[in-house]
Parts: sequence; structure tokens; C-alpha cells
Amino acid sequence: MNHLNFKMRNVFLFILLFLSAAAAQNLKTKNNPAPLIPMPDSVEWLKGKFLLSDQTNFTCQPGKLQSYFVDRVNELIGINLKANTRSQARSRIIFNIDGSLIGRGKEFYSLSVSENKIEITALTEEGLFRGSQTLFQLISPSAKSKKDGSPVDITCCKIIDKPKFKWRGLNLDCARHFMSKDFIKRYIDIISYYKMNVLHLHLTDDQGWRIEIKKYPKLTQIGAWRKEADGSTYEGFYTQDDIKEIVAYAQSRFVTIVPEIEMPGHCLAALASYPENSCTGGPFEVINKWGVFDDVYCAGKDSTFIFLESILDEVIKLFPGKYIHIGGDEVPKDRWSKCPRCQARIKAEGLKDEEGLQSYFVKRISNYLNLKGKEVIGWDEILQGGLADGAIVESWQGMNGAALAAKQKHYTISSTYAYTYLSSDVENLDLRIAYSFEPVPKDIPNDQTKFVMGGEASLWTEETLQNEVDGKLFPRLLALSEVFWCAAGKKDYDEFHSRVQNSYEDLKALGIQYGQEAKAISFSTSYDELKKEFIVNVTPGQKEIDIRYTLDGSEPNLSSLSYIGPIEATDQTELKIYAFLNGSFTGKKIELSFEDNKAIKAKLSLANRYNDMYMACGENTLIDGIRGSNDFHDGLWQGFNGVDFEGVIDLGSEKAISEVSPRFLQDMKAWIFMPASVEIALSNDGVNYFRKKIIENNIPQNDSLVVLKDFQASFNNDKARYIKVIGRGIKKCPPWHTGAGQDAWLFIDEIEVK
Ligand code: ACM
Ligand code: ZN
Repeated sequence: MNHLNFKMRNVFLFILLFLSAAAAQNLKTKNNPAPLIPMPDSVEWLKGKFLLSDQTNFTCQPGKLQSYFVDRVNELIGINLKANTRSQARSRIIFNIDGSLIGRGKEFYSLSVSENKIEITALTEEGLFRGSQTLFQLISPSAKSKKDGSPVDITCCKIIDKPKFKWRGLNLDCARHFMSKDFIKRYIDIISYYKMNVLHLHLTDDQGWRIEIKKYPKLTQIGAWRKEADGSTYEGFYTQDDIKEIVAYAQSRFVTIVPEIEMPGHCLAALASYPENSCTGGPFEVINKWGVFDDVYCAGKDSTFIFLESILDEVIKLFPGKYIHIGGDEVPKDRWSKCPRCQARIKAEGLKDEEGLQSYFVKRISNYLNLKGKEVIGWDEILQGGLADGAIVESWQGMNGAALAAKQKHYTISSTYAYTYLSSDVENLDLRIAYSFEPVPKDIPNDQTKFVMGGEASLWTEETLQNEVDGKLFPRLLALSEVFWCAAGKKDYDEFHSRVQNSYEDLKALGIQYGQEAKAISFSTSYDELKKEFIVNVTPGQKEIDIRYTLDGSEPNLSSLSYIGPIEATDQTELKIYAFLNGSFTGKKIELSFEDNKAIKAKLSLANRYNDMYMACGENTLIDGIRGSNDFHDGLWQGFNGVDFEGVIDLGSEKAISEVSPRFLQDMKAWIFMPASVEIALSNDGVNYFRKKIIENNIPQNDSLVVLKDFQASFNNDKARYIKVIGRGIKKCPPWHTGAGQDAWLFIDEIEVK
């Protein structure tokens, strides 16, 4: 995703944050003995308890499910079940296959817990497996933490359940940052626990090729390595043996692994290894930056297709599942438009343009895979220029791709980034928004809803290392697991939210290092004119957040003052407020300094409106006496895009002015530049201005650091009621900048008046 797109997403997410609302009907789960997620279709809690112990007998058809269940019970709580002994055990677990359930679907199960018997009944082993996960969720977190094999109580109940969607996926980007084989296996267990059944592995991208291909060894000898900007090396790939192990592990847990081999774009790691498959011939490097890059596979050379088909031959052998994902997203057409071979292909095939060539590319690969018995999935860009026969569309840019696919009778998977990209900051995509996702596009005819296979969550890892994955995915993945499993009309956010609160102990017991549900802390400020004090109110985003603060500019830690009520601050205070979750710092640092601004209770009018993404606290944020830190995201800086800053402060009556000092921020890498100059003038009537001062900028535009500058104007205690401040922005990013010619930003916080 490029910078601009990233910003547009933020606007959209920001709006969503306010629009998202909890859905209709109530799932009554008061006094819930276990916070089941996703919530089953029907749950009836009964009196009494079943005692699970080493003496419990387990009856199940011998096979992979039997050994899985015995092993997993042991792994979770340390109990050794006796499988299929003939004893007249008083406590029994029975797994039944029942052919008469044929109309209920292969994932349907019923689970009945009585005082001496637990019975799971389903049409298939897959159904039994889903039911066994509900049983695991009925076991207390303390038993899972102890794992000492001591007997465990399970509350009696009757549960009947089946999923709404057949595709309940998680996409892990192990290309940008690699995830080890054992970590992937751990995630297979984690997602199955929440009844998700697809693990999509994004195995190749510009920044790394992560799967061994025997015919093309350079793909991993060269493509699995990159040199980072600091000179260090980043590497990692799965051998074919690793893949076999992962696939077998997933099979025994009824999870389908979907490999994604990206084409025709996002392929610099492959082109660095085999540059002959590009339009220009290279050379290329496995890139260490994030974004969308111009060099893609050459669609004009038959040898490119032979290369990719040979790779896919090996991929097909490794992944027995029905589906192969071929990416297809974000393909710049610059190289194709200049490449004689690509142009010759367009002509020879009678294609309309480069979009037609993209469609040709996807269709050619798709046909190849279909002949090998595989179904093809691509991101929604594969709609461009016409869909390949039978291709499944994974709709990420919105719901439109899903609606268009369904209309053309193509299957589709809903992965709208605004709701399902858990790589997004929790400030923009919180638990509530994730829960409000609905995989079926609104307003599609009823007879087309069957084409919506389900949904998928994604974790893109540009900003995430393996040890940070849990914190990104959880607890938000809980919301999506329920969205994918439960019928839309049954969702109730408040009820779900209370189950999530009761699930944290279980997550801890499972070793999941979950992160935030929502923005860690919000704050608001007011000013007490009599006491000349600022009052800062802080609200945690979730119950478990521990708020600590200091008043002297030192870094808060777990021994610092604990927030219990409004904080009083003066112009001497340097307030730092940090959030901690499970003993670790989380969220964004709040760092506030205060000043005795003469304009605090004044009125500020703006000639050009700030951008809604960076509105800070709205109208009076620039004269509230609180200064922003050097992080333009801190909620105190106001951003203006492509326009000047022009504001007039009305002090209400004439006051003696000795200094006016607006502060601007430059963060060139984020397209934010100092104004070229700042003009400050005073007035008594708001019409005629005097004592005009112009302060020129002296900060170089190409300074790579974040810089704050006060454009200070001194006055001689001149009496004035109105103060005008104009920051003349550079408007467009300079020619040498990555954003050359596009709108530049101007960021301002606090116009200090003395
Ligand atoms: C994507 O986010 N480019 C699929
Ligand atoms: Zn070409």
C-alpha cells in the first residue's frame, strides 16, 4: 500500500469508528459458565458437572481424530485419557458419527455434557473436531494454566452448532517478516480453537520468497534474503519438508492451508533471483522497503509462464488442498506499457490494453491450475479486464469486488481491509469495528449470497515481527471468528464484549500474548481560569489497561503514579501518561506540556479547514495551552493538506500583546513541511491589521529528522483584540521528494500568545 492509499484508508476507518454500531438480537448468556467464542447456535446450561480425569474413558473410531484428541487434552490440561478401553468407566467421552445428520452439513455437531457422560455427535470427523474445540473452551483457564493432570469440572450443557460460512480464514504474511514452522503450527491450533478452518500463507512478495522450489534453487538462495537499511541481513524460508510437516499438521486439525504465490506483481524477490522473467532484465534486489514496485513479471515472454508453471507444479504437489492463491493485486502497468514483448502480446492476443494483459496473465495461469485440478483465488484486481473461468475473488478493497464476483456467479471471500486487516492500528480498527463486519455484501440478490464463501482476516507484516503477531491479532481475531461463524442477526456487540472480558484468562492460559481491544487511552483537557490550572481527564480503552503518569518529564513505568482521577497541571508540568497491559507498555505515548497562553479562552476562526484525519481536538486545539510532542499523530497537532494555514484569534477584548508564537512541525518522510514563511499581524477591529511581521523559514526541506519550530513575533505590549496568523505552505511536495507534485502537509500546534 502506498502512502496516499494508507492515508485514504485512515479517513475511512476514522469515519467507521463512529458509524459502527452493534447489531440486533440478543444472545442471552448471563451467568455464562464459559465464554464460548464463536458463540454456538444454541446453548442450554444445565445443573451439575462432569468430572474429567485420568479415569475418563474416551470412545472414538480409531484414527487421526482419536489420537489428536487424546494428545490435545494432554497438552492442554495434562490429563491422560484412556482411549477405547472396555472398562465400565463411570465417566465417559463418546464421539459418534451419525449418518442421519446428512442434511445438517459436514461441520454440524451436537455436544451434550451430563454428569457421567460427554457426547459429541456429528455427520463427519470434521464436525466432531469442531465440537471438540467447544469442549476445550468449556474447560477452565486455571486447569489450562496448571496442566497438572488434576481432575477438571465441566458444567453440564447441551449445545447444537454449525457455521454460517464455510470459509473462515486467516492470512499470515510470512513474506515481509518470516514466521517459523513451529509458529505456524501453533497458529493452526489457535485458529482451530476458534473454529476457523483456513490458513492462507502469503509466501512470496517483493521483500522475500519463502518456499523452497527445487527446480529454481536461487528463489531461496537469493530471494529469501534481504539486506536491511541498517546493513543487517533478514532471511527465512520453509523447506519442502517443513511445508509437508505444516500441511500434515493442518490436515489433522481440519484446517486447509492455502499457499499464495504472488503474480504478476509483488515479485521482486523472484526477479532478483531470476531477472530474465522481468521486462527489463534487471538486475534487481530483494527490496527492504514497503510499497508497490514497478518491476513485475513480463507477460510477453512465454518463458515467464514456463517458470511460473514449473513453480506451481511443485506447489501443487506440496499442498493437497483444492485452492491456490495467485495474488494478482497491485500490479503497476508501467513496465508492460514500455515493453515490446508485452505490447506484442497485447496485439497478438487482441487485448484492449494493459488491464487486458493482466486478465490474460491470470487466465493463462488459472487455466493451467484448473487442468491440474486446482481452483484459483486472486485478490479483487483479478476482476480487471475480465475474470478467469471459475476464479474465486478475494475482495479486499471493499465489498464491491465480492458483489461483482457474485453477480458473475463466481465464488468470493470477503476481506475488506477496513474491517479485517488486523495489521491496521487498533486506533483505527478496534474490536467493535471488526465485530461489525458482515461478509455478505449489502443489497445483493438472495440467490447470489450463496457465492459468498465467507471471510478472511489478514495480518500484513511490514510492521510486525513474529513475536508481535499475537498482540496484533488478539483480541480482534475473536471478533472475526464469531463474524465468520455466527449468523449476522445473532450478533450482539455488548454481549460479545463481555465474553471477551471473560476470555482473557483463557487467552493467557493458551499463551496468547494479546494486545489492545481499542485505543489504549483517550484524554481530554480543560482549564481552570481561577486556579490557572489545566485539568487532564484520562479514559482507558479497556478495563485491563493500567495508566501510569509522571509530572516531571520522566518516563512513566509500573511504579509511577497510578491514574485514579483528573490530573492537575500547570505551565511547570511536563506530563507523560503511558498505558500498560499485562505489565508491558502498550499504545501511544501521551506527552503534554502546558503554557499560560493568553488566548486560552479566545475564539479561533480558520480560513481553511483542517484535514479531518488530523483534526486534533477540533476548533480550539491550537489555543488550548497544550503543546504537541514531536509525534504528529499524538492527537494535538492539526494537519492541513495542500492549503495555507490561516487563522484569526479573537481575544474578546483588547489585551496587551508581547509575543505571538505559532509552532509548526516538519516530518519530511511523512510529507509534512515547514511553511515557507509565517505572517503575524494585530488588529482592533478584525479588518485593519497593523504591526505585520513576516518570519521566514530556515529549516531545510530535506532535513530527514522531525523538527519543531516556533515562528516567533515580538510586540511592544501593543493593544489588540484580533491576531491573524498565516502559515504559507509549500502546497506541493518538492520535485526531489517521493511525493513530488502531490499535496504537501502543514502541521501546527499551539499559537502561544503572551
Ligand atoms: C492487498 O492488500 N494488496 C491484497
Ligand atoms: Zn514485458
